Amino acid sequence: MNILILGSGGREHALAWAVMQNPKCDRLVVAPGNAGIAAIADCAQLDICDGGAVAVFAEENAIDFVIVGPEAPLAAGVADRLRAAGFLTFGPSAAAARLESSKSFTKEICDACGAPTAAWARFDEAGAARDYIRARGAPIVVKADGLAAGKGVVVAMDEAQALAAVDEMFAGAFGDAGAEVVIEEFMEGEEASFFVLCDGENVLPIGTAQDHKRLGEGDTGPNTGGMGAYSPAPVLDSAVAARAMDEIIRPTVAEMARRGMPYQGVLYAGLMIRDGAPRLVEYNVRFGDPECQVLMMRLGAQALDLMLDCAEGRLDEAQLNWADDHAITVVMAARGYPGTYEKGSAIGGLERLPEDSSNMVFHAGTARRDGVLVANGGRVLNVTARGESLREARDRAYAMVDAIDWPGGFCRRDIGWRVL
Ligand code: AMP
Ligand code: GLY
Repeated sequence: MNILILGSGGREHALAWAVMQNPKCDRLVVAPGNAGIAAIADCAQLDICDGGAVAVFAEENAIDFVIVGPEAPLAAGVADRLRAAGFLTFGPSAAAARLESSKSFTKEICDACGAPTAAWARFDEAGAARDYIRARGAPIVVKADGLAAGKGVVVAMDEAQALAAVDEMFAGAFGDAGAEVVIEEFMEGEEASFFVLCDGENVLPIGTAQDHKRLGEGDTGPNTGGMGAYSPAPVLDSAVAARAMDEIIRPTVAEMARRGMPYQGVLYAGLMIRDGAPRLVEYNVRFGDPECQVLMMRLGAQALDLMLDCAEGRLDEAQLNWADDHAITVVMAARGYPGTYEKGSAIGGLERLPEDSSNMVFHAGTARRDGVLVANGGRVLNVTARGESLREARDRAYAMVDAIDWPGGFCRRDIGWRVL
């Protein structure tokens, strides 16, 4: 079959890599893709948030299956548009994507189905929000309601910081995303990510992961899009996973169906786990980036079969073969990230590295200029390895990092430290 993947990051390179290993895939196109993806698939320039344009492209290229990578096209209704045009599509409708694009919507769903999460309140003006913060005290969490590229959340350790966050959001720091603000109880515990596929009705867990959001070693410094991840997450053991399924995921999926907006695609639950009890921090309606890279490394070619089962509504028949293995990904970023950084520095040494089912460098932000591979973003490479233990996977990944010749880049040296 002919397959189209929408997106251009390390997540989409990992999806493309897994899909290409499956003999069902005859031709793969990724829009817009990146230099790493271009080495294994066709890349096409396309406005991926324009559902009409994507549908025309799919028609012209005889596409049989579309996989939507990032949240923006989902929130923009690209999956609805494609399904209406008759294309088999992996990814939720715009209505169901509100589980990511509106924090207050998710909180209402949790309340309606009894899923454990932080106590919360919603505000559309600063005065009442400030009063609520003063009444509740710190620590407390302030969130812009809408999509803010992961930057609309302030975990305030003191009251002044929380009040400043409210003022900033209502002053328009996140545009429309901050027109409503959700204020939440601060939850303590260990965070982990749980990934399930849903076909509207059936739910299939496909793995767990933990990421390192902070820039600095020992999980210090500013927040980033993620500096590394590993799978599985030991804290999300089978007992916690079973509770998360029974208390959070299945009730959510049932509530979405009851409201006439069945959820189809991957559902990524960010959980806070304390004393073996999971509570929901947030949902995302797509694979995590870089969590997808470790999941794909472990799932391999079967990822395509699972996504097809999901889109065709027969996840109850799906066969999942989980190897008892571990995977890790180390993010290499351009110097200066997450602040200002330069694009265009040359990256060498990749051609010397092994590329197989245990070693892969996924490209997140690269381009090719005059035949030279160059950095073209903040997070640039995801150096990913698999092993029988997390330690083995980690040693493989850092051996690859050390063989990469990129003076303009850096990475954390301690990915996985909490477990190791
Ligand atoms: P979100 O975008 O909602 O996932 O929030 C980003 C990060 O903020 C999460 O991954 C958590 O580390 C933290 N966070 C969000 N909500 C809470 C909460 N209620 N309690 C503690 N930490 C939180
Ligand atoms: N790595 C976090 C995310 O994809 O949201």
